[in-house]
Amino acid sequence: MPRVEVRDLTVRYGGRYILSDINVEFDSGIHIVLGRNGAGKTTLLRAIAGLVNFMGDVMVDGRSIKGLSRKELSKLIAYCWQNPFYGFIEVSVRDEIEVILKTLRVLGNSYIADILVPKHLMDRDPTTLSGGEARRVSIASILIADQPIWLLDEPFTNLDRDGVEALIKVVEYGRKKGKTIVVSLHEIFYAYLLNPDTYIVIDGGRIIGNGVWSSITDEMLINSGLLTIGDICVNLYSR
Ligand SMILES: Nc1ncnc2c1ncn2[C@@H]1O[C@H](COP(=O)(O)OP(=O)(O)OP(=O)(O)O)[C@@H](O)[C@H]1O
Ligand SMILES: [Mg+2]
Repeated sequence: MPRVEVRDLTVRYGGRYILSDINVEFDSGIHIVLGRNGAGKTTLLRAIAGLVNFMGDVMVDGRSIKGLSRKELSKLIAYCWQNPFYGFIEVSVRDEIEVILKTLRVLGNSYIADILVPKHLMDRDPTTLSGGEARRVSIASILIADQPIWLLDEPFTNLDRDGVEALIKVVEYGRKKGKTIVVSLHEIFYAYLLNPDTYIVIDGGRIIGNGVWSSITDEMLINSGLLTIGDICVNLYSR
């Protein structure tokens, strides 16, 4: 039951505050981080994964990640890149998916790759994949290591309906296995598909709302740029 605690997290780039005094906890289950472009979602996920310098702390089960080596962190926390092509280094999709198992020396769990990656892609050069194919391979190539904490950065981008369905199946599987899953989204549609336990909304690097998912309001979504008055009108007229 991994518990992630973010304490007074602040990130600055060149004197500019990207995240300010973020305090949030994530337990086993599905949690979404909402916010408009540039709000700070990726920076938050990358800070939790130990990939950016920050002030404050991130604790996993009461232990600061600052005391962990890169390898220990990678076994504990999976960070799935917003840009799927970032991580590709191998010559085949099969090697790309399995390389993390050798690097971390773990057995992993291939079920996630079986759900996400069609067999006919296995011998392809990862750099030649289509956007949606690359997304599937990218997510599988990280989650195959079976880490207890998953950080999925805009994981639905590029996916068609089959891809979305496969990813939802993976996330549901993770939920059943007791993983702590944090998903960043700038598109509210996917939040409804995920049916998360909790949400946080970030705007301008600060948390402007959080709670259990069922308590989120249209007002909160409008304030954070995830919903417009126009969306609500279209919804009303189409009823
Ligand atoms: N390395 C960096 N140097 C300077 N500014 C940065 C750096 N990384 C991110 N930023 C800035 O920090 C802000 C937050 O970026 P971040 O990527 O966290 O946003 P986001 O909420 O994930 O947005 P999106 O929905 O577009 O993915 C943006 O204004 C971005 O330009
Ligand atoms: Mg982002």
